[in-house]
Amino acid sequence: MASIVVVGTQWGDEGKGKVVDLLSAGADLVVRFQGGNNAGHTLVVNGEQFISHLVPSGILQGKLCLIGNGVVVDPAVLTEEISSLKTRGVDITPENLKISRNAHLIMPYHKTIDLAREETRSGGRIGTTGRGIGPCYEDKMARNGIRFVDMLYTDTFGRKIAEKVKEKNIYLHRMYGVGPLDVDAIVEEFLGYREMLAPCVANVSRIIADASKNGKQVLFEGAQGTFLDIDHGTYPYVTSSNTVAGNACCGAGIGPGAISGVLGIVKAYTTRVGEGPFPTELFDSTGEFMQRAGSEFGATTGRKRRCGWLDAVMLRAAARLNGLTGLAVTKLDVLTGLDTLKICTAYSVGGNLLDDFPADINTLSTCEPVYESMDGWKEDISGARDISDLPSAARGYLKRVEELTGVPVAIVSVGAGRDETIIINHPFG
Ligand code: GDP
Ligand code: IMO
Ligand code: MG
Repeated sequence: MASIVVVGTQWGDEGKGKVVDLLSAGADLVVRFQGGNNAGHTLVVNGEQFISHLVPSGILQGKLCLIGNGVVVDPAVLTEEISSLKTRGVDITPENLKISRNAHLIMPYHKTIDLAREETRSGGRIGTTGRGIGPCYEDKMARNGIRFVDMLYTDTFGRKIAEKVKEKNIYLHRMYGVGPLDVDAIVEEFLGYREMLAPCVANVSRIIADASKNGKQVLFEGAQGTFLDIDHGTYPYVTSSNTVAGNACCGAGIGPGAISGVLGIVKAYTTRVGEGPFPTELFDSTGEFMQRAGSEFGATTGRKRRCGWLDAVMLRAAARLNGLTGLAVTKLDVLTGLDTLKICTAYSVGGNLLDDFPADINTLSTCEPVYESMDGWKEDISGARDISDLPSAARGYLKRVEELTGVPVAIVSVGAGRDETIIINHPFG
């Protein structure tokens, strides 16, 4: 039995969806534990593309998919995603999709607040996805949220929603001059979601525990990335949940001893969508090359992703913060054709060398990356299925990543398709 957590090691969009879909073949359960539909995870199977925002990426492999208590769920998006998957022939029923009783609902007012705040934030925008993620987590922590378990109380669910919408209408009007939102329409809309989703509401923690006891393999699917973590990321340019592997425990309802491995997904270069410091960002033709060759557009908002060289300072911190036991290096094929590759090995700040990721963005924004250069390769590597199929320069690049992070590379991805992968050491053995 193994329980593996998959996390992003950078600023999201590392290719978690592809790797989770691939590894799901060997799993029995696939569990989302944090974030919401700010995530956009892309799966490409037999040339067909699927983008999942809330449904765990194990769904195409026919696995039991669980949405843990740590996820914030917009029922409008989830019901739409379920319907869209069904029309594409993917079977989704309350038997194979379960939602934690304790997961919080993203309400229409969370989205309105998210957007209004971005317009007026002093100090500038964060560049959120506008999906209501932050305001929903705020209400959760303020003990003012609505949870899936509330759906099961048919006599009070509608009343509870009406009360909250009325309260938020006052806030929206006074703070932002927006609204009011239509109380009756929202109550009616949510009673409709209850029809579809209430049968999926379950005790997710218990399901995982029982499955583990019976020798089942569990895959935990992280969303976002380590440096978007609310505590460890580039605060305040972060998301509102803990994205690191430890949160698989809190966000799914398991103990730390249940986790047997943590796979860090590393894009072979770095990208970021939204605002915030990015030491290795490129503003030249190489950055444009990465953006174009990697089709770097956000899977959720369609925004262009900022691109830059691989940053080993970040990766070393990610290895520590997540307790990484293996790396999956993705999009190695995107670097094909570049004469020289660079990896940032340290930061220079006011003439001093810094080998760890700074805790504050004031320092981070003054960091100058210190690079080492390596030879690139020209050969098409998308057909490589074994490490020996790669040109020696590509193997050298991977070896250097292992040396700089102290974590072995377990998987290399050379294309978006499920099969465009080199498996060196399968996390499920
Ligand atoms: P996630 O949020 O971490 O799941 O990543 P996204 O799906 O948002 O972004 C990753 C993008 O890269 C998607 O369009 C994937 O289809 C694509 N992708 C994943 N792995 C590879 C790879 O090895 N090579 C190439 N060229 N594309 C990849
Ligand atoms: P996946 O799971 C990349 C970024 C947003 C913004 C910041 C805060 O696909 O890797 P939020 O809406 O969460 O309050 O926005 O976080 N962000 C992501 N960037 N990939 C993601 O998810 C992201 N989820 C949030 O762009 O900068
Ligand atoms: Mg994404």
